[in-house]
Amino acid sequence: MLTPGEESYSLAAELISRGEVVAIPTETVYGLAANAYDSCAVEKIFSAKGRPQDNPLIVHIAHIEDVSELVCEFPESAQRLAAAYWPGPLTIILKKSDKVCDAVTCGMDTLALRMPSHSVARAVIERAGVPLAAPSANLSGSPSPTSAAHVLADMDGRIPLIIDGGECDFGVESTVITLAGEMPVLLRPGAVTVPMLEAVLGEIEISSAVLAELREGERAESPGMKYRHYSPSAKVIIFDGTLQEMRQYLFSLDSLDGVCALCFDDDADILPVLRINYGMSDDSISQSQHLFAALREVDNTGAKVAYARCPSSEGVGLAVMNRLLRAAGFERVSLK
Ligand code: TXA
Ligand code: MG
Repeated sequence: MLTPGEESYSLAAELISRGEVVAIPTETVYGLAANAYDSCAVEKIFSAKGRPQDNPLIVHIAHIEDVSELVCEFPESAQRLAAAYWPGPLTIILKKSDKVCDAVTCGMDTLALRMPSHSVARAVIERAGVPLAAPSANLSGSPSPTSAAHVLADMDGRIPLIIDGGECDFGVESTVITLAGEMPVLLRPGAVTVPMLEAVLGEIEISSAVLAELREGERAESPGMKYRHYSPSAKVIIFDGTLQEMRQYLFSLDSLDGVCALCFDDDADILPVLRINYGMSDDSISQSQHLFAALREVDNTGAKVAYARCPSSEGVGLAVMNRLLRAAGFERVSLK
């Protein structure tokens, strides 16, 4: 593990040029980066994560000029979105060019592209001199890492370098929108919110998989939607009610052994179980910053079940709700 600086950037670039995988901070979550043009290096990402072979990767670039060689068309709508929100927490899916290897796209004819704003991510992409394929730096299925310690917990012994850039600003992965079809479709909500996208594109479609489970046999627009995600080993259940109602509900359970609660920082201390906080009740950004760390903390305490206070789905809250629903396998207690 190294801190950001010339030494770590040069080492990262050298490792990447040798076909290795390195962990870097971004403004969303930490990523596991490799040369997107080197299919052997990209394979190493899949094995380090234990990632299913049909779940494609996002390619990260440092400059807008890098788009043209990666896609066969850069439509005007995509150019406007990029001008508005790049560099930043937004991934745009476009039709790919022939230069992109199948290892990155898993044989799909589209490519996910993102230009991160984090200074370390940008420095490493620039030094490497190639676009970097990078998924979140967690073991497949576990919560995305928002600190270098999370990456170390999952990747120790699997990769040669982690650059420690402290805690990530947003804490949830980038917004993913596809512009490869007739209508723009939001596939994964993030810090670039629906109103922000609609301000540039006009009305967009929101994939039904953002807030609901795929039905049996339904095709996933984004392969990542198929998989259990962001889950600690403990069972997570969203509690759709007030703090008082949660207290009554917990008291009505037969046993509180191994039960904990995912609460808001400003919740009163009235629950009969261990409490782990994930941000302020009225601040979706603070929830997005802390949710994944809180999910990891649930496992560190050895809890078997975590009842989570229900977040708002407005603005960045849509991303918080989407990740929490997936962590919970869509299980919720609703008193309404
Ligand atoms: O913030 C982020 O996006 C982080 C940082 C490291 O940049 N990366 C990230 O990557 O979250 P990953 O691999 O964990 O999530 C990428 C998601 C997956 O759900 C994948 O299925 C989807 O994007 N995806 C990638 N390429 C796609 C494509 N061509 N069509 C549809 N979905 C795609
Ligand atoms: Mg991921």
